[in-house]
Amino acid sequence: MKTEQHWSKPVGLLPNSRFPLLIHRGALPGGGEDQLIALFKNNGWLNNWRYPGVYTYPHFHSTTHECLGCARGWMDVELFGDGGIKARVEAGDVIVLPAGVSHAMVDHSDDIMMVGGYPDGRDWDNMPVASLDEAGRRAAVKRIMMLPIPARDPATGQPMRDWSEAPSSVDAGWNDFRDSLDDASQ
Ligand SMILES: [Fe+2]
Repeated sequence: MKTEQHWSKPVGLLPNSRFPLLIHRGALPGGGEDQLIALFKNNGWLNNWRYPGVYTYPHFHSTTHECLGCARGWMDVELFGDGGIKARVEAGDVIVLPAGVSHAMVDHSDDIMMVGGYPDGRDWDNMPVASLDEAGRRAAVKRIMMLPIPARDPATGQPMRDWSEAPSSVDAGWNDFRDSLDDASQ
């Protein structure tokens, strides 16, 4: 297994994340719905679903981090909003998405099947990037800031060093991210 790290920054009203998005390549060779869900459950990523893809419009979650496993086929996802990146995941790959990161499926194989999971079984909200306004951004950012780093990686079961060793919000230049979040006059 090989792990990619992809870093983001806020783009307009889109929060993105100070944690790297991870793509574990070949986390579970061959994929498989039941096998991936069993892996996620075993590592504490619960509230699982299976679905032929993910939403095709840019959206993010503010109440939980999310993992996406490709059980069958392949899909292309656009990540991080305007100026972001596109990545293809194939059967057996697992994406670990920090809360706040925009994602959308833009292409897929006919047989695509994805499975999802959430640390400690948190429930997810759905925030379409296109309908975000300043009040919505502020409320979402406050929820995102309160989320803990998950205890274990959904694919490896190891402590999430990629996130716990990420530069602090100060060192990474995110110190103004919190400013004025409670200022109702703006
Ligand atoms: Fe999602």
